[in-house]
Amino acid sequence: MRRASSEKSRRMSSEITLHRMPEPKLCMIGLRLDCRGQGMSRLALDKLVCLAADSAIPSFDCGDPDLNEFLRDDAKKYLEQLFAVTYLVMADVQLTAFFSLSNDKLTCVPDDDGSKKLWNRIQRRIPNEKRRQSYPAVKIGRLGVCSEMQGSGLGQEILDWLKILFLTENRTGCRFITVDAYNNERTIAFYEQNEFRFLTSSDEDEDTRQMYFDLKPFADLMQQTGQGAAGEIKTGDRISRGHN
Ligand SMILES: CC(C)(COP(=O)(O)OP(=O)(O)OC[C@H]1O[C@@H](n2cnc3c(N)ncnc32)[C@H](O)[C@@H]1OP(=O)(O)O)[C@@H](O)C(=O)NCCC(=O)NCCS
Repeated sequence: MRRASSEKSRRMSSEITLHRMPEPKLCMIGLRLDCRGQGMSRLALDKLVCLAADSAIPSFDCGDPDLNEFLRDDAKKYLEQLFAVTYLVMADVQLTAFFSLSNDKLTCVPDDDGSKKLWNRIQRRIPNEKRRQSYPAVKIGRLGVCSEMQGSGLGQEILDWLKILFLTENRTGCRFITVDAYNNERTIAFYEQNEFRFLTSSDEDEDTRQMYFDLKPFADLMQQTGQGAAGEIKTGDRISRGHN
């Protein structure tokens, strides 16, 4: 059953699944390269639509009622209040995935034993004199891939695209990508495979777990591997506005 749906997914995603040419170091920090060895997004950006107030929202089911409902009933309200911007990933007229983004900050949350072990892992990467109690971040508020395409790599492509976007086209400082991940094995595995890490152990028994991805090692590696300033990495054309 899973195999059949994977086959279908592969066919449906032929337009957006680009090259998978892993390069070891970049894989280690959670981003793969294309066939020219560049950190290009594998998500064709003409398939990305930024939700606007008058956008039509195609029907969508990712198997999670809360996420479906957010898209259907709340995404535009969040947009109107400037709380979150939602992006639709289209394959022709079919909506294959969506995600929403908001500004965030990564703040110290003590571990369950009262220590700051996990937070200190982050702090060690920041030069002493620059350490603070919080750091600029962007939050993936919602992320859902339609049921037929789950497991086809689309979720990973979206995360890769975001990593590149916030290194190259961000107009404000942003060190981390954050997410409150559903606390179930598969969702946590998905984010871990994409190099997201836990912020604290204190939310182990909560419905969601705070996770983060550090953009700095990726930026450093890009420079080391001769790809120059992160600005040279392109995310492609501008995203279209989703007007009717
Ligand atoms: C979680 C989600 C966004 C991942 O996107 P995806 O396109 O299915 O994931 P990818 O194909 O890029 O990666 C597959 C990996 O993700 C994990 N995964 C998590 N949920 C999965 C699902 N429903 N189906 C398949 N893989 C899933 C698995 O570890 C899988 O690796 P494996 O194939 O080695 O088992 C998507 O499955 C989804 O929308 N799920 C329902 C809603 C949800 O949980 N959203 C996250 C809210 S924080």
